[in-house]
Amino acid sequence: MNGIVKRFPGVVANDGVNFEARAGEVHALLGENGAGKSTLSNVLTGLYRPDEGTVSLNDEIVHFDSPRIALERGIGMVHQHFRLVNSFTVAENIILGERSSSLFMDTSAAVERISALATQYGIAVDPSARIWQLSVGEQQRVEILKALYHGAKVLILDEPTAVLTPQEADSLFRVLRSMVAEGRTVIFISHKLDEVMAVADRITVLRAGKTVSTIECATTTTRDLARLMVGRDVVFNRVIRANHAEPNNIVLQVSNIDATDDRGGQALKSISLTVGKSEIVAIAGVAGNGQRELAEVIGGMRPSTRGTIAVNNEVVPNGRVRKAMTAGVSHVPEDRLHTGLVADHSVEDNLILKSYRGAPISKMSVLRRRVIRAQAKETIEKYDVKTPDTITPIRLLSGGNVQKVLLAREFDSLPSVMVVSSPTRGLDVGAIENVRKRLVDAADSGVGVLLISEDLEEIFALADRILVMYEGSIVGNIPAAEANRESIGLLMGGGSLSAENN
Ligand SMILES: Nc1ncnc2c1ncn2[C@@H]1O[C@H](COP(=O)(O)OP(=O)(O)OP(=O)(O)O)[C@@H](O)[C@H]1O
Ligand SMILES: [Mg+2]
Repeated sequence: MNGIVKRFPGVVANDGVNFEARAGEVHALLGENGAGKSTLSNVLTGLYRPDEGTVSLNDEIVHFDSPRIALERGIGMVHQHFRLVNSFTVAENIILGERSSSLFMDTSAAVERISALATQYGIAVDPSARIWQLSVGEQQRVEILKALYHGAKVLILDEPTAVLTPQEADSLFRVLRSMVAEGRTVIFISHKLDEVMAVADRITVLRAGKTVSTIECATTTTRDLARLMVGRDVVFNRVIRANHAEPNNIVLQVSNIDATDDRGGQALKSISLTVGKSEIVAIAGVAGNGQRELAEVIGGMRPSTRGTIAVNNEVVPNGRVRKAMTAGVSHVPEDRLHTGLVADHSVEDNLILKSYRGAPISKMSVLRRRVIRAQAKETIEKYDVKTPDTITPIRLLSGGNVQKVLLAREFDSLPSVMVVSSPTRGLDVGAIENVRKRLVDAADSGVGVLLISEDLEEIFALADRILVMYEGSIVGNIPAAEANRESIGLLMGGGSLSAENN
């Protein structure tokens, strides 16, 4: 890719990017939120047409008018949001991309080819399963198989591990390595520097739409990469707390909560926990063990079937979002664009979603635009949100900047309790530092924080106390100072500590 320029109203997303990937390599694409990584991959796969610059494939200049044409020429992409049809089987979804095929044709030959590919690359997936039955990690494998099935020689993965457990990520890396071993090319976008170091051969860093440099993985360190991305040194250490946690001064009390999941199964089994003033309590666990349901019950979005939630010693009515909010609960969900924000609304309107009912935002039910805009500008500055304007629709922001808007709104709502799910997922190193600092500031100012995360590094960097959740129950409650990764990891996988000691 040579001198690629892609402009959007008010932004130059790619500003003369040069990028070259070889056959047989994993090439990582790094850069801050909004640096232009997704835009560049969308140019490469024919979703966007560049305003300037050229794309060449094997020294031949090519123009792809659509992702389908790019795939015919051997360039496939696995997007962060999968494009699979839920009610169809794995095999049907994989064949679906084929121009000439109809779903009513004989699929048995295709199923055989899919199984052969799956075996060849060590991708465990059942071709006859329906998509809705699969975990996120399994769905991702279907997307990869789909690209391979259609002959992808270059595969682009946009933040593929953001949605994976550490075990699933390891198995993904094995698949990617076996793909490049036979001469294919993998372009790998990620914010996790350790991961990039583990899987990539070369790395290209983008900053503000421009190529900073391309380097061999073997000659660099995560610290150097962070500096290249952000343009300054980044602190990875534990943030120092100003105030001590007061675990006995309880702000959130969850007592004997049961709840069901979306399919009617029991998601939460008699959950009890407390969070004290200024305390950061982490819930460690592999995704899918009830964490999302617990966050939703506390946030009032999902009714419990038994038990109570109390905030500042007052019981909060069951399953009522507004009541939970006025009681002082703030909730930062995992699925930002669907539950936390309104994608088509502007940045400034999303910032006031929770506060528009009263002063100073509205007066006698009339919104005060000038106040809203001034506050939005302040927030954008304070949280370093990259957006052309306060009236830009949220869906046009890069993934990381969407998260900053949501966090800014929740931090500024002055809660007693914050429930935050994977708050730094998808954020670049600089933004992670910023968000962690703000979580600590919130705790220092007296807020009780319930941090739900699969990322042990994050948990150990922030938590005062660590709870482990497994199959809908709390299976461990350990002060962070006494915890170690091995014991937490063991509990997360359903093991028990006493068994280990014996
Ligand atoms: N369709 C669009 N319309 C307008 N602006 C856009 C559009 N897509 C991207 N942008 C803007 O272009 C810039 C680059 O965005 P891009 O999504 O490529 O960043 P990114 O490097 O993938 O970031 P992240 O790590 O947060 O995903 C951002 O400022 C973004 O707001
Ligand atoms: Mg992106």
